[in-house]
Amino acid sequence: MKKLIAGNWKMNLSREEVNQLAYDLMTNISPEPGPRVEWLVCPPFLYLDRMTKFFADSPVAVGAQDCSAHDNGAHTGDISARMIAEMGARYVILGHSERRHGHGEVDETVNRKARRAHEAGLIPIICVGETESERAQGREKEIVGRQIMDSLPSSANSANTVIAYEPVWAIGTGKNATPEDAGAMHAFIREALAARIKDAAHMRILYGGSMNADNAGALLATAHVDGGLIGGASLKAESFLAIGRSLKEADG
Ligand code: PGA
Repeated sequence: MKKLIAGNWKMNLSREEVNQLAYDLMTNISPEPGPRVEWLVCPPFLYLDRMTKFFADSPVAVGAQDCSAHDNGAHTGDISARMIAEMGARYVILGHSERRHGHGEVDETVNRKARRAHEAGLIPIICVGETESERAQGREKEIVGRQIMDSLPSSANSANTVIAYEPVWAIGTGKNATPEDAGAMHAFIREALAARIKDAAHMRILYGGSMNADNAGALLATAHVDGGLIGGASLKAESFLAIGRSLKEADG
C-alpha cells in the first residue's frame, strides 16, 4: 500500500503564506502520482475552497481538520461534512488530541462525526493516542484500544477510513515515538481493528507526533506504519517534501 503523507496545517499561515506554500508544493511535487507516496494537505476551513481548486488534477489531495457531528441546520459555527465534500475535499481529520483535549470531544463525538464523514463520502482520519501520564502508568494500550473501539462507526472499512496514532506527548514537542514504540502500538492497533472490521490488514495507520525529515525514514520503514500525519514540518514545502524523499531512501 502507498504511504499517505498528510500535512495538518492546524490554525497556521496567513493567506499569503498559504498561497506561497501551495505554490512551493505544486512546483516541487512531480505531477505524476508517485509509486510510493500519496500527498494530502489539510488547511484551515477558510482556505479549503481555494486549495481544492488549486490542487485539482494534481497528486495532492485536500482535507479538512474537523467537521460537525450534525448533518445540517441550526448549529452556529459548525461546518458539515457535506459542505466539505462539496468543496472538493476528500479527507477530514477527526478526534485530533487538540480537539479531544481543547474542545472536550469524546469518542462518541468522534464516532458521530466519522459517520457524517462517511455519509458525505469523505475519508475520516481518526486520531487516537495516549497522554504522557497514561504511558507512564503503562496504560497506553488500554487507552488507545478503547479509543479505537468507541471512535470508529460501524460504517468504517479500510477503504473509507484512516487511523492516525498520535501520542499526545509527541505532538509539537520535538519528542517523537521511537520506531520500536510506534511499531508496537501500530501492531496493537491493527489487532484491535481486526476485532472491529473485516479487512483490518488493509486499513492505513499513520504515525503523527514530531515527525520530520530526520526521523521519518526509520518511522515509515516500520511495519504497520502506513504514512505520517505531520504538523510543524508540513508548514514549509521543503521539510514536508523531505519526508516523502526519506521514504524513498528508506525503501532503497
Ligand atoms: P506535529 O503535529 O508534527 O507538529 O507534532 C502533528 C499533529 O498534531 O498532527
